[in-house]
Amino acid sequence: MHKRICIFGAGYIGLTTAACLAELGHEVTCVDINSERVESLLAGHVPIHEPLLTELVVGNIGRGRLHFTTDARSAIEYVELVFVCVPTPQAHDGSADLRAVFDVIDVIADHIARGAIVVTKSTVPAGTGHALLCRLLHYGRNDVGVVSNPEFLREGSAVADFMQPDRIVIGADVGAWVKPVASLFESIDAPVIVTDVVTAELSKHASNAFLATKLTFANSLAHLCETVGGDASALFAVLGADPRIGDRFLRPGPGWGGSCLPKDTRALAHFARSVAAPLVQLECTIESNDAHFDHVVARLSEHFGGSLRFVRIAALGLAFKSGTDDIRESPSIEVIARLVRHGATVTVHDPLARPVGDALNGAHFSEVLDDAIAAADVLLVLTEWPEYAELDPHTIRTVSAARLVYDTRGIIDAHGWCDAGFTVLQVGRPALDFGDRTAHSTAA
Ligand code: UDX
Repeated sequence: MHKRICIFGAGYIGLTTAACLAELGHEVTCVDINSERVESLLAGHVPIHEPLLTELVVGNIGRGRLHFTTDARSAIEYVELVFVCVPTPQAHDGSADLRAVFDVIDVIADHIARGAIVVTKSTVPAGTGHALLCRLLHYGRNDVGVVSNPEFLREGSAVADFMQPDRIVIGADVGAWVKPVASLFESIDAPVIVTDVVTAELSKHASNAFLATKLTFANSLAHLCETVGGDASALFAVLGADPRIGDRFLRPGPGWGGSCLPKDTRALAHFARSVAAPLVQLECTIESNDAHFDHVVARLSEHFGGSLRFVRIAALGLAFKSGTDDIRESPSIEVIARLVRHGATVTVHDPLARPVGDALNGAHFSEVLDDAIAAADVLLVLTEWPEYAELDPHTIRTVSAARLVYDTRGIIDAHGWCDAGFTVLQVGRPALDFGDRTAHSTAA
């Protein structure tokens, strides 16, 4: 049965949820306070880079099933389900800033239909659902439900993750509130886990905390391999073949980042400490991630006799991972800031992402990859874009003085680069030196 739905927030989660629910046949109105964003969406311009999203937005506007407005009051008339997909950024103390979530309740409380259900998709700490119910009661609304339905979508595959999720989580403290939400996803083939609100809220933070912890473990082992002469890719093939461990999220890198993992790990760590049940392991994970950014810079510096002053570095990649133009909490930004602090001259390139504000901390940005490379002493791969994996070391030798490449994502053919005359630093492996390689080939 198709439903009328209102979604607050036209950001990553809100827009994907709105477009996908409309695609499933529901009548969706998406509300955002940013009138420019609403205007642009009404004209079919999707402000974020996400495969399939534009097609879904344009198609469903055309079918009359997807609407955008700034007028919250008219949008929630006769609506059974109100999704809250507004941002919950990190506050100064590491906790989640929930003001936008409560603002939605304040706006809708007097107008929401009797029996309607507020569904939170925004990532919120445990207990927020209860606090929202209390806020509704404060407005005399004891006839409105609150359900938690966390979203696990990844940037770059958000639509696919919504349509083919690993699981759908519905957290409700009143049995009757489950069915209206579950019925939205009837046509999606995925296990539905029904639980209480607190557990559903915890599940999102816990998932991201677990992923971050797995990555930090992988990055720490990669560091160990670099030090003692092991090969992290073979090591992770061994670990990943054990189904209890699994082979996903074991790809080492410069450290993890993005719009969710950093803020969600800090929010959970802060929350757990505030209720006297600290997650010490998670706190170490967060601290270790910073140490991994430092490690990238230290390893490079070591190759220049301990100083990066005036070393010209082409930093390849600004986005926090490939396939997105999002630079929020990007590991690249962390590494670039450290390089600049160490006196290096850094030129940054990205095929899609562009710097915003003072994200580059004084580094330069070049839209032309060849220009960034031509002026460099070192190529430093920070994001796993296929463009960088396909770079031809023989051509680069003819256009650049650089003879050192540092691949923090493990995407280049290290031996190929070494044979072409480069010294190769690669995550999870000891350095591969041009001299060593020729000696090795001659001996063989
Ligand atoms: C993440 C979660 O995966 C998703 O479930 C949640 O809803 C939001 O946060 P996203 O932020 O899109 O999604 O990025 P993700 O693909 O998880 O990558 C996060 C970071 O880990 C990136 O910096 C990425 O480069 C890094 N990463 C990921 C690795 O270094 N190695 C890996 O093997 C996987």
